[in-house]
Amino acid sequence: MRHIISFEDISPDEWARLYGLTLDIIARPGDYARSCAGRVMAALFYEPSTRTNFSFQAAMQRLGGGVIGFSDPSVTSASKGETMRDTMIMVSGYSDSIVMRHPCAGAAKAASLYSSCPVINAGDGGHFHPTQTLTDLAAITRLRGGLRGMSVGICGDLKYGRTVHSLITALARFEDVTLHLISPRQLACPKYLRVFMQQRKMRFYEVTNLEAALGSLDVLYMTRIQRERFDDPKEYDRLKGVYVLTARKLSLAKGDLLILHPLPRVDEINPDVDGDPRAKYFFQAETGMYARMALLLELTALPKLTPERDYTETGRLCRNPGCITFREDYLPFLEENGRCVYCDYSLKGD
Ligand code: NCD
Repeated sequence: MRHIISFEDISPDEWARLYGLTLDIIARPGDYARSCAGRVMAALFYEPSTRTNFSFQAAMQRLGGGVIGFSDPSVTSASKGETMRDTMIMVSGYSDSIVMRHPCAGAAKAASLYSSCPVINAGDGGHFHPTQTLTDLAAITRLRGGLRGMSVGICGDLKYGRTVHSLITALARFEDVTLHLISPRQLACPKYLRVFMQQRKMRFYEVTNLEAALGSLDVLYMTRIQRERFDDPKEYDRLKGVYVLTARKLSLAKGDLLILHPLPRVDEINPDVDGDPRAKYFFQAETGMYARMALLLELTALPKLTPERDYTETGRLCRNPGCITFREDYLPFLEENGRCVYCDYSLKGD
């Protein structure tokens, strides 16, 4: 475990260790209050955030470490035209871990090429958000002991929802999980994930009707429609409000359903659901801080490395305009199995 770009960077054994550590931190927080003393975490937020940024900052402070960073890139040298490469070389010299959120898919991968300390992807465009998945799995495991045999519904914007993408990759590890992917057709999950689910022989159903699926679910993971990722605002207007979970609809659901949401919510969970004992999204958010403490504890203790940094073959390869290679054009060509290594977009034109 070094850079955490996708959930795949955390092996099953590492996940088990992180979860054990999370529980121990929850049980005995005082024992960890100085565990990261003298360490520095950089929080580089090129895109808005509340939970992720604050929970990482709170996590580091509860471990006795320090935090540097920004939540508005317009106040940094990026606004003067500094490359991400230079920012990463410099910031990784100042810190022991970098938590980074960026509007471009593949940004965290690109940053990791130049960083001498671990880079944690706190959301790269509509691509991945692995520490939200750490949060999600930790919350479910705390509440139900694990995911084996569960029926998991993921509802909303499966096209642009990066938390959804990371969660799907993680669920491949658990035995006998059935996925109900509930979205309008226009917001169905990306092809690379469908291929991933097929290759991993995951059991999944793509459907459009929430009410029809509700009764069979053990977990319902609601998500907001990601307005900021739409090229056409009219398309967003057509799709917003497509799913709204209400207390009335919940009468169709199992008595021990877990209702989760990465938050922020817009209107997809009516506040009349909040008082229902099945609503666990605020518990989920709190669990995330402890899971991030466990992750920081492991990663900030790693020795510094000097990455290669001087790549010869540079220039854009990807055709996804949301890919980081469109913004940082010195990045090296990197492809794997016909896909862009930064954003996972197919390079074959399919
Ligand atoms: C999510 C994100 O940023 O992707 N928020 C979060 O980190 N908890 C979900 C969202 O913004 O919809």
